This record gives sequence, structure tokens and C-alpha cells, in this order.
Amino acid sequence: MSSRRVRLGYKPTAAACTYTYETPNLWHIIPQSIPIALMQSQNNVAAYLEAPRASPLVVKTAPNPAPPSPTQVVIKAHSIAINPLDFIIQQTGMIVPEDAYPFILGNDIAGEVTAVGSRVDKVKPGDRVIACAENGCFQLLNTVDQSLLAVLPDNVTYTHGSVLPLALCTAAVMLFQDDTLALDLPKIDPVSNGKVVLAWGGGSALGSCGIQMLKAAGYEVAAVAGPRNLQYCRDLGADYVYDYRSTEVTNNIVAELKGKDFAGIFCPIMSADAISICTQIAAQLGDSQRNKVVATSLAHAMPYQGELPEGVKVTYCKFMLLIYSRLWLLTVYRLGR
Ligand SMILES: NC(=O)c1ccc[n+]([C@@H]2O[C@H](COP(=O)([O-])OP(=O)(O)OC[C@H]3O[C@@H](n4cnc5c(N)ncnc54)[C@H](OP(=O)(O)O)[C@@H]3O)[C@@H](O)[C@H]2O)c1
Repeated sequence: MSSRRVRLGYKPTAAACTYTYETPNLWHIIPQSIPIALMQSQNNVAAYLEAPRASPLVVKTAPNPAPPSPTQVVIKAHSIAINPLDFIIQQTGMIVPEDAYPFILGNDIAGEVTAVGSRVDKVKPGDRVIACAENGCFQLLNTVDQSLLAVLPDNVTYTHGSVLPLALCTAAVMLFQDDTLALDLPKIDPVSNGKVVLAWGGGSALGSCGIQMLKAAGYEVAAVAGPRNLQYCRDLGADYVYDYRSTEVTNNIVAELKGKDFAGIFCPIMSADAISICTQIAAQLGDSQRNKVVATSLAHAMPYQGELPEGVKVTYCKFMLLIYSRLWLLTVYRLGR
């Protein structure tokens, strides 16, 4: 594929960093065909969700971005990733108010800087970057604040880089924010702190980012994944691995980790069953308010409904809230025009 084309690709499993067709839902989001001429255009082009639950998206010309403000950067997309949130929004009509349509989905972008604001000191035109776009990145030209991008090393392809931003940001919020697990921050040269964190769903995009950040922060990691991802979790640095499909998974985890300096549970998997098991494990391994905590990727607006064992707390992801609130602000802004 030409590097000048937008790739409306498929969310790879972070495990293999290759495209997967496992999630049939993804087929709904992708236009049947994307006119090549539009993709090679120097002007902007976007994939629009034209109405709630519309399928597929419609690719057509879009307004070019305004000149960047002092801290903004314009990026020409080379690769765009699809997250579960995108097809959840598309299929359910949730989150996006009716007045916000036609709407542009997407948060994960990898591409080339084409313009920078007057105070941008992190990148220059021509640099390869990845970014977490706040306002819908299923388009060729995206404007983001420089605080939400990172330079992409030469040895990482745009396709691989594009799957990182939202997963990395979400996992970081779950692990390090004061009102979530509040763990030690990652360092370039990690020093072991002797504590262990359980990462439930280590084979997922969020889970694989989480394992690597935990190791960089000096934690021991006990990862729970399906059989095909157990070795992958080890390769990422997990010290212990467990198959969540085993009927003995809870007993095995508790038996192996009991007595260790337990620092809490990171559970990006949005399944009530997975969260429920995690709360039971937290009750058995935790001994205080500090570590009887299960950090989820759920938003406050969609709280966990199950019963909690005594003393166990489930935390939510404010970054998601931030995204949702931005969507609402965007709507208010559009309505105000
Ligand atoms: N990606 C993001 O940026 C992002 C941001 C915010 C929220 N979220 C939410 O976070 C959740 C995970 O997203 P993701 O992108 O990381 O998903 P993903 O990469 O598509 O992860 C799917 C993997 O999760 C594992 N899994 C499924 N059920 C499991 C269970 N019960 N226990 C343990 N592992 C299980 C499976 O791995 P095995 O093959 O090992 O079985 C599956 O391959 C989603 O609900 C998503 O909506 C994602």
C-alpha cells in the first residue's frame, strides 16, 4: 500500500501486531471500497458516520484543517487504527448526540507532520509521529496538540505504531493515576520494587501495553490470558502467566501470589465475569484500601454492576470520560455555531 494512502485498517491484536479478522464487528465499520484518488489527494478526506448506526462509513472530501494554534501539529495520516470504542459507537449509536452527525470516529493515528504551531518544540514538518487524536481521526489531515503525540522511531512501521496511542494512554490512566492504582511510574532504567500486580487480559491491546509499563515501573507482573497469548505475555516480561479458561485459574493465582507484596489488579477486559473474578482475587490477596483495588477500563458513566467483596474497590477510567466529555463539548460547539 502506498504510504500516501490512508489505511482504514483493522485493529490488530497487540499480541501479534498483525491484522486480524477475528472481530466480525469490524467489517461493519469499513467502507466497501475507498476511492484511491481521494486517498491520494493533498486535500482532506474523511470517513463519515453519517447517522446513528449507519454502515458502512462514507468516504468523501472534508474541510482542510485550520492553521495550527501555537501548540498544535497537523499530521497527514499514513495509518489509522480502529478501536472497540469505534464500532461500539457505530453499532449502538451511543455517546454521540444526534446533532453531532455526520461524525468522524477514531483516536489512533500514525503519520507525517505537515505543519506546526509557533510554540511547538517537540516535532517539525516531515517527522514521523503517532498521536492520540481527540476529535476523530478517520481522516487524512488531523490536528492534535503536541502533548498528545510521540515521535515514531524509524524501525517501527506506521501500521504498528498506529495501534499504540489510545491503548497506551488508557492503560497508563488505569495504572498510574491517583484515583486508580496510583502505581510507581515507569523509568528508563527500571529498578525492582518487589511488588506484584495482576494483569487480567494480558493478551489484549491494553493488557500488552500495561504489562510493559508495569515492568518498566519495576513491578513483578502476573498476567492472565488465553492459551495462545501466554508465551506472548512472558515475552513482554510477565513473571507468572495463567490461562483464564482454566477452571483453577483463581485458585492458582491466589496460591502463587499469596504472601507477596500485592499492589492491585489491572483489568482492561470489559467483561462483568472477568471483573467479578478480579474483585474476588483482590479480596483474597489485598490487605488494605491501597491494594484491594481492581482498575478497569470502564467509564464512570457505565459502572460495574456486580456486588463487591468487602473492602474491594473498582476504579474507572477518566481518560474515557475525557473523550466522552470532549465529544459533548464538540457538540455544544457545533450547536453554538
Ligand atoms: N484499545 C483501546 O485503546 C481501548 C481504550 C479504552 C477502552 N478499551 C476497552 O478495553 C477493552 C479491551 O480492549 P483492547 O483493545 O485491549 O481489546 P483487544 O486487543 O481486542 O483484546 C481482545 C483480547 O482480550 C482477551 N480476552 C477476552 N476476554 C477475556 C477474558 N475474559 N479474560 C482475559 N482476557 C480476555 C482475548 O485474549 P486471548 O486471545 O488471550 O484470549 C482477546 O484476544 C475493550 O472492552 C475496549 O472497549 C480499549
